[in-house]
Amino acid sequence: MRLRSLINLSILFTASFLIISCEKPKEKPMEKPEPKVAKSEDHHSFAQPEQAIMTHLDLELEVDFEQKQLKGKAKIHFKNNKYDQLFLDTRGLEIEKITVGDRELKYTLHNEIEYLGSALEIEIDTFTEALNIFYRTSADAPALQWLSPQQTAGKSAPFLFTQSQAILARTWIPCQDSPGIRFTYNAKIKVPKGLTALMSAESLTTDSSDGLFEFKMEQPIPAYLMALAVGKLSFEALGSRTGVYAEPATIHKAKKEFEDLEEMLETAEKIYGEYAWGRYDVLVLPPSFPFGGMENPRITFATPTILAGDKSLVSLVAHELAHSWSGNLVTNATWNDFWLNEGFTVYFEYRIMEEIYGEDVFKMLALISYQDLQSELESMNFSEDTHLKLNLTGRDPDEGLTSIAYDKGFFFLKLIEETVGKKSWDKFLINYFDEHKFKSVNTEEFLAYLDKNLLDTIPGSKDQIIPEKWVYGPGLPDNCPQIVSEKFEKAEQAANNFIENGTAPTNTKGWMYQEWVHFIRSLNGKIDAKQMGQLDALFGLSNSGNNEVLFEWLMLAVDNHYTTAYGQLEKFLKDVGRRKFIAPLYKKMADDENLNKTAERIYKNARPNYHYVATSTIDQYFSNSNQ
Ligand code: BES
Ligand code: ZN
Repeated sequence: MRLRSLINLSILFTASFLIISCEKPKEKPMEKPEPKVAKSEDHHSFAQPEQAIMTHLDLELEVDFEQKQLKGKAKIHFKNNKYDQLFLDTRGLEIEKITVGDRELKYTLHNEIEYLGSALEIEIDTFTEALNIFYRTSADAPALQWLSPQQTAGKSAPFLFTQSQAILARTWIPCQDSPGIRFTYNAKIKVPKGLTALMSAESLTTDSSDGLFEFKMEQPIPAYLMALAVGKLSFEALGSRTGVYAEPATIHKAKKEFEDLEEMLETAEKIYGEYAWGRYDVLVLPPSFPFGGMENPRITFATPTILAGDKSLVSLVAHELAHSWSGNLVTNATWNDFWLNEGFTVYFEYRIMEEIYGEDVFKMLALISYQDLQSELESMNFSEDTHLKLNLTGRDPDEGLTSIAYDKGFFFLKLIEETVGKKSWDKFLINYFDEHKFKSVNTEEFLAYLDKNLLDTIPGSKDQIIPEKWVYGPGLPDNCPQIVSEKFEKAEQAANNFIENGTAPTNTKGWMYQEWVHFIRSLNGKIDAKQMGQLDALFGLSNSGNNEVLFEWLMLAVDNHYTTAYGQLEKFLKDVGRRKFIAPLYKKMADDENLNKTAERIYKNARPNYHYVATSTIDQYFSNSNQ
């Protein structure tokens, strides 16, 4: 059933038992009609943008580390199409009152629907265009992670960071939480003295001695790009527009790692046109950040697991930077169109990497994508979830976070590039971004634009590409571009040589981390614990400082019951909160009857340090894990 009709049902059959935690519950008349407007295509938001659409937010929040609570006021500005109700998204928010000037407004907080939260229906006048919501967040708001000093690198001050994508903004701000709705914002954030607040916006603060920080975001953004971080932070400039924030204990390492940031920004601009957001900074978070990176405008949030010491994992920053165009400037209209955000971004990420670090790096990254995609396809059994255009109705949009959007998306765009030639494709892309900037686009609109502005002008190209097969069909079409990497061929030979003759590779000195990843993947299923021990003695893989390499090695260690690495495995699971790494490791261990108990014990200890995003995935692997 459409989620929106669920809400309408609840409106129709409203009785007081459907109204929860609201100070002034009111009966809705039974005859309340459904809105007489076309419905938004976003099934993951209760907003009715056709009635009234949010345009600006004035946010005033106090950060209370003791209560683990944000408390304050959101003034919502909206364009009202002469309706008498405004629908917002909320989840777990405690609403104190809603006002226009001195007047309190009536509202209904509808019953909570799993992961979507509660529709907030506010009674307004047909001419109302702004209102104040006084509210506080719940202590377990999924977007907020509150860290004790002990959980940070410096161990001296607490830390808070938000993660709003995909639909968690509503757990800390009442808003129209749909990627198709954009608004500008101003914010005043009060934090304990000595701490720094950062947001996905321009900082207006010159003196923060009183703990008050002010921000302004003048470009309209969707709610999922709302972000806040508070902690003891240092800053180092990297270029005129770029810099890095991190805890004082991490800042030095971070500065070295991201030395090339300004060059990356310039390279991206050369390919896709002017950077639209002013500054570009990176914030290195404590290890429990559940993602690799999050493209919050003007300030990417990043995991410390990319601080490898040799810049080898900076492609992650290239990825988040690339979102400044694909995603932040031109946004997927709904989470069903997620590939428009991520597929484009992977494509850009690899183009930026190719430009700065050369074709070999591009090929290796593309092949790793190909391998990830193949294994995802196998596990997804060619279901409809392997289409680029997803149907996430009735499901948490988090379920769309698979290799399909990223890697199948990348190969589709690479195929278009190869078919029409880089020159025409790049020209098309610059126009596409320019014409759709600060707008949302769905898959169908993109395909129509692609036809009209590119494929229709190049005879035969559409028949060669067959976009429908990629977008609305399962698996990987057989016209997928083939990538050949000499470096990978050599790494594979080295692996085979070791498997067949027991000869360890001798030419690994200049190997990049991708070569190690490929080497280890090529050993999968073909060596045992004893052979792992031989390689470990030579190359110290259990102690690799590169988390991508270490992760592959630990996966192999679990497969082979290579007990020597179990200490490192446990340490890794304890220290790292990035879901991409820890979820597959726990899954593998949970499925192994010899390791199941160990996994459960480690998880029980480490779980309090993980983010909601990670635990909500990993809990499913353990039967009695709601520790
Ligand atoms: N925007 C995503 C992260 C995301 C997607 C969070 C959907 C919540 C819902 C970010 O740009 C991303 O893709 N991060 C990747 C890194 C990248 C190099 C593939 C990650 O975190 O692993
Ligand atoms: Zn991304």
